[in-house]
Amino acid sequence: MRLTIRDLKEMKRRGEKIAMLTAYDYMSAKILEDAGVRLVLVGDSLGQVVLGYDSTVPVTMDEMVHHIRAVVRGTRSSHIVGDMPFLSYQTDHSDAIRNAGCLLKEGGAQSVKLEGGRRVADTVRRVVESGIPVMGHIGLTPQSVNQLGGYRVQGRTSRAAEELIEDARALEEAGAYSVVLELVPAALAGMITERLSIPTIGIGAGVQCDGQVQVFHDLMGLFTDFTPKHARRYADLAEAIKSAAAEYISDVQDQSFPSDKESFDMNESVLTELAGEPSG
Ligand code: KIV
Repeated sequence: MRLTIRDLKEMKRRGEKIAMLTAYDYMSAKILEDAGVRLVLVGDSLGQVVLGYDSTVPVTMDEMVHHIRAVVRGTRSSHIVGDMPFLSYQTDHSDAIRNAGCLLKEGGAQSVKLEGGRRVADTVRRVVESGIPVMGHIGLTPQSVNQLGGYRVQGRTSRAAEELIEDARALEEAGAYSVVLELVPAALAGMITERLSIPTIGIGAGVQCDGQVQVFHDLMGLFTDFTPKHARRYADLAEAIKSAAAEYISDVQDQSFPSDKESFDMNESVLTELAGEPSG
């Protein structure tokens, strides 16, 4: 049985912290589940860390569905959140419902995430009323990077902080089951967490959130373009892969790979017969 949104609300009630990670493919999702991760986000961050775009803006519905399916196939007990890409929910409510539904129907996700506070609250309400659980996302909303003018901490002035609190409340009232707080000062995230009955999931938002989410590639040291301040590296997979690949190249060049152990033998009599056959 996959983790449900009820389980997540119950975890907040019990004060049990929620560890969420992104995943974008079958194998990494399987490994994360084996490690005990039960809440997985197929984030549109895949645009940057998997597809090499310079932001999340170009990511399409087809790309999201493709990766969500792989992650769903690699998991059995995790709750899979599918990120709604830019312009899949901002145009009108029927687009939003259709696209959110597609991430569940075609992708196999259990819920969707979309960015924005009060300005998307009506959309969230309509999607939730259609039977699709929605996770909100406020603070730094990467799909609006062109409007925000960069990836900066949000809510630092009292006015901006009050607006974020209003955004969080609006999402809760609209029926969101949880809300991501990205790049929000820790004290403000703590205040929002205390005031909401739904779990907050922080990324660069301090330890008082009900849970944390991180991008798989940042945590595992796989994304080497830059490391965000909020990410802690638990592994250095890029280095491990680089040195394994270099060792492989050297083994191929000096013919120590493949060895007999990695090759297949043939019956001697067949070989003799082949050798005796006239060629051409
Ligand atoms: O796309 C993503 O990975 C996200 C997280 C950063 C929360 O939205």
